[in-house]
Amino acid sequence: HPQNSQMEESCVLKPLECRAKGGAPGFKVAILGAAGGIGQPLAMLMKMNPLVSVLHLYDVVNAPGVTADISHMDTGAVVRGFLGQPQLEGALTGMDLVVIPAGVPRKPGMTRDDLFNINAGIVRTLCEGIAKCCPNAIVNLISNPVNSTVPIAAEVFKKAGTYDPKRLLGVTMLDVVRANTFVAEVLGLDPREVDVPVVGGHAGVTILPLLSQVKPPCSFTKEEVEYLTKRIQDGGTEVVQAKAGAGSATLSMAYAAVKFADACLRGLRGDAGVIECAFVASEVTELPFFATKVRLGRSGAEEVYQLGPLNEYERIGLEHAKKELGESIQKGISFIKK
Ligand code: NAD
Ligand code: LMR
Repeated sequence: HPQNSQMEESCVLKPLECRAKGGAPGFKVAILGAAGGIGQPLAMLMKMNPLVSVLHLYDVVNAPGVTADISHMDTGAVVRGFLGQPQLEGALTGMDLVVIPAGVPRKPGMTRDDLFNINAGIVRTLCEGIAKCCPNAIVNLISNPVNSTVPIAAEVFKKAGTYDPKRLLGVTMLDVVRANTFVAEVLGLDPREVDVPVVGGHAGVTILPLLSQVKPPCSFTKEEVEYLTKRIQDGGTEVVQAKAGAGSATLSMAYAAVKFADACLRGLRGDAGVIECAFVASEVTELPFFATKVRLGRSGAEEVYQLGPLNEYERIGLEHAKKELGESIQKGISFIKK
């Protein structure tokens, strides 16, 4: 209807030239997959982070709508939207931190590895863009299967000649967030007081909570250890089943992603003692990648910590974890090398 379209057009305001130049101090952050289940709440939480001065939201669908929505929040970060492959370079140029939750999620009955065929190609394309446009950015990789997508990203960066192992981090923070929550429930504590190291990788038995190293120091019965280990390892599947076909964890993941991204930004700022678990290039085991505690600094994961003392139960868990993890890492490497 001509009258309607005229009315709609009259609602579109021409942009004014802003008076302020330069913008607030802070970091430039891009989210790739920003219109997705994780991407949207993650974008909202990043817009609330005072360390962020510029927030680029990239997706292959719906980026303009999410950007318009988020941009009305009266916080410091300037928000810009980027839609589709031709705008990827604009989204990435000048970024300090790139967070990647792009890709398909699981449905009930699927493993994370079942996502490999679709997500491997998505991660490759996005990382080629990073190598070209912001090779010095810190990369937080969320897309599953993390155990394979991080090795894929590393191979893409190696091929491009931009690989710095310190700057590539697979996000395993949700495993720590879950572990803190479930352990606090069992101990009757506030989860904010609990710190559970979770090492290995991010799928099934590769997720290895070190319950012998929980802070504050505590002890568990054999039944509690078995219950907690299984609940932490199956946390993702618990959500996938409860959502019954509508996807996997998005809200707790956005929370975990922003907690981890904030730690990376505090490290970049030069804060001392920023330590979180992440899946990184590692010499802690014989595998080329492994999740452990890392110290985050101006150049990314500046120090990768050893596992510390393990009990018998954890040593057996570690052997199971390494077997599956080794295969997933190799699958990722072969995807680029073949
Ligand atoms: P979703 O389907 O809701 O959103 C994914 C978004 O990615 C969509 O908006 C889609 O358009 C976008 N996308 C697809 N191809 C793209 C491309 N080439 N470039 C840019 N964007 C693209 O899925 P979700 O629930 O947000 O989950 C995203 C991924 O995160 C999944 O692979 C999921 O398994 C993973 N995940 C990881 C963790 C973790 O702990 N690391 C936790 C939860 C989910
Ligand atoms: C999670 O741990 O919630 C994510 O890896 C999503 C999934 O598929 O379980």
